[in-house]
Amino acid sequence: MDTALSRALSRVLSTRASKATPIIDLDKPHAPCSGDLFSNDYLSLTSNPGLKSHFLETLSKQTNVLGSTGSRWIAGNSEWHVALEQQMMRFFSAPAALLYSSGFTANLGILATLPQASDAIIFDERIHASCHAGMALSRTLPAARIQFTHNSIHSLRKCLVSVLDSCPQFRSGTSTIFVVVESVHSMDGDVAPLEEIIATIDELVPSQSAHLMVDESHATGVYGSAGRGLVSLLGLESKVHTRLHTFGKGIGSSGAVVLTTPLTRTYLINYSRSLIFTTSAPIFSLIATSCAFDVLEANGDRLIARLMHLCRFFADALALHLRPIPSAVMSLMPRTTPPISPIFPILVCAPLALETYLRREGYAATAMPHPVVPRGKERIRVCVHAGNTEDELLRFVRVLTLWAKNYTAETQDGRGTAMHKSHL
Ligand SMILES: Cc1ncc(COP(=O)(O)O)c(C=O)c1O
Repeated sequence: MDTALSRALSRVLSTRASKATPIIDLDKPHAPCSGDLFSNDYLSLTSNPGLKSHFLETLSKQTNVLGSTGSRWIAGNSEWHVALEQQMMRFFSAPAALLYSSGFTANLGILATLPQASDAIIFDERIHASCHAGMALSRTLPAARIQFTHNSIHSLRKCLVSVLDSCPQFRSGTSTIFVVVESVHSMDGDVAPLEEIIATIDELVPSQSAHLMVDESHATGVYGSAGRGLVSLLGLESKVHTRLHTFGKGIGSSGAVVLTTPLTRTYLINYSRSLIFTTSAPIFSLIATSCAFDVLEANGDRLIARLMHLCRFFADALALHLRPIPSAVMSLMPRTTPPISPIFPILVCAPLALETYLRREGYAATAMPHPVVPRGKERIRVCVHAGNTEDELLRFVRVLTLWAKNYTAETQDGRGTAMHKSHL
């Protein structure tokens, strides 16, 4: 039916398409699988036979396994909520742990709820959309939410000094400056200079006024002993006030845990709307998460060693095969500092054309065009997994660079631009 709303929605969607921003289609058929090179299941836990049997065995011992009983706030704690939070406190050496049904609702809850009206939030310019959603709901003034250049200590320092100089409540320790960063960036795969970030905060901000929050979503299962994350790898647990670990990536499950102080946990339970007014995780999901952490404790270091070996193998193969390709056509996004990460952003001049080609070749690639990523940084985001094989990775590198060679040749004889445009 033709309604005012349907016309408004169609208008917005066609404007989006005319700006060469793809209309996302979740219903397009899946590419036949040529190995997982795109999911965030870094340790391949979703297909780990040991985890599958541990999960099924644990599940079979439960009487109630299906569904959830509603909001945790209303229905109270299930035995599994209590058990998983205690497991998280032990595993991550944290004083308190609070489960959320997703990382999105956790970031939303933390940033909408904790900062008080006179506080400031200084955040990395590339933090996740869920943090932006939380900040927008917070009581802080819009002018007190300040972004710094991605992973730049120089820029962080400038922002801190400017906030400290403009508002006496931060030097007197009566209000809080929140600093929000991702330990591994979800799109770029680069690692935050956490030690320098903490040194800068320690140097400039009185300790009563500092609150550092680190989103460890893409470091969970990847760094630190048994995948405890970057904060743990660097021994910085006591310096980070709030940590977020999500379960939908390296843990192969869903949900998230906030690691923080007992007081902050109580405050969130009482005021975080994204915890209070939503259904809590179902029991089978809590069991899956708990079993995944058991597998990490037992085999995590071995899986991570395999993952890191494959990351180095892939990086070397890619560097070799990309050498003859003009960087304007395809290149690996340069990274500054170790450690190596399993996220490889392949910058490409025609991401949608490459996506179409890769899907025909059986790869479930998704293009990341502008404005998902900044202009000039359009890409295909490739992830290496512990369950990949060297053959699989090499085959993919060959398929990828064959496209780049053909594209370069066609562009040089004048047909490439037409091909590019036809895919936009
Ligand atoms: C950095 C980061 N934080 C938070 C989230 C949200 O996590 P979840 O998928 O559990 O909602 C994501 C996932 O998209 C992420 O990449």
